[in-house]
Amino acid sequence: MTSTLVTNIKQLVTNDPELGTLADAALVYTDGKISWVGGKTKAPSADFLIDADGGSVIPGFVDSHTHAIFAGDRLQDFLARMNGTKYESGGIKTTVAETRAASDESLRNHLENVVTEFTEHGITTFEIKSGYGLDVDTEVKLLRIAREFTDETTFLGAHVIPSEFANNRRGYIDLVKGKMLEAVAPYAKWIDAFCDNEAFTVEEAREIILAGQAKGLLGRLHGNQLGDTGGIQLAVELGLASVDHCTYVTDVQLESLAAAKTVATLLPGAEFSTRSPYPDARRFFEKGVKVALATDFNPGSSYISSMPFVMAIAVRDMHFTPEQALVAATKGGADALHRTDVGHLGIGAKSHLLILNSPSYEYFFYRPGLPLISHVIN
Ligand code: NIG
Ligand code: FE
Repeated sequence: MTSTLVTNIKQLVTNDPELGTLADAALVYTDGKISWVGGKTKAPSADFLIDADGGSVIPGFVDSHTHAIFAGDRLQDFLARMNGTKYESGGIKTTVAETRAASDESLRNHLENVVTEFTEHGITTFEIKSGYGLDVDTEVKLLRIAREFTDETTFLGAHVIPSEFANNRRGYIDLVKGKMLEAVAPYAKWIDAFCDNEAFTVEEAREIILAGQAKGLLGRLHGNQLGDTGGIQLAVELGLASVDHCTYVTDVQLESLAAAKTVATLLPGAEFSTRSPYPDARRFFEKGVKVALATDFNPGSSYISSMPFVMAIAVRDMHFTPEQALVAATKGGADALHRTDVGHLGIGAKSHLLILNSPSYEYFFYRPGLPLISHVIN
């Protein structure tokens, strides 16, 4: 057994309902799990000591929505949007072509670099979706490599209809539900579909998610990013863990999300990078919806690996309180992945924690862009 004491913590945010947020605190973790939390003067001794030096400690971020495995980038699409062009899901096909042509080694190296970026920005748990392969072999390859980095892998064969099926939608949906699902199932925990304008209809997405669930995968959904297109109702109907984007949402839909306990995962990086309007988070909180914040890291609509940046947008432009933003980026992400072992620092939780060089986490919003994270323990 190896224990480590982190002491001299000015502010310790645990996200644990009983422990709450403590001042002048310390914590101990033993063999990767939190084993003691309390006032720093009462701390037990441990094998190793980390001095937080008057900084703050928060749970590591849980990023429940990324498309982190792909090749190439789409800088030109981003620049065009900054010049007034509208986001179009068709750009996904550019990344599909580059990803299909990439070797295992280059995909793995690229993903390794992305994971380093995630870690540097405090993300200690992350989900990765496929969806830039869209043929059986490439989807398997993406999920197999993603599995080397996380257990939270998601099959997104239903991202867009690939060019070779442009005149055969039905054929592609049957492939996704059939041979492709069969081949990826050993490497995927979740199944997702991009249910929106320019992607898959509610009926198509339902068919695909149900097929995945029948195969033992758990469902989640991209919904209501490009319009009020029925994704939220579908997520509620199927009792999915999370519906992601929710840029366009009605009050009735928010009430149904709250009743169903489906997490609404908001992805402000996508609105930022596509110059789209942000949803107002106050509407979600007023209705009692569980909310997560995630990066949506992908080369097309959100090439953003910084959770502090995402939280800063959420506070400044979406009316999250600082506390709501922090909880959404930690506990909210864990809820969206049905994980109880991360996103908080209660006794028994994984010792995934961040030491900040600021006396409270509110400096993320007050001093955006500064590298406040001094240690990442994961
Ligand atoms: O979450 N919405 C669908 N998929 C991604 C965009 C992917 C892309 O443009 O490459 C998203 O925003
Ligand atoms: Fe996405």
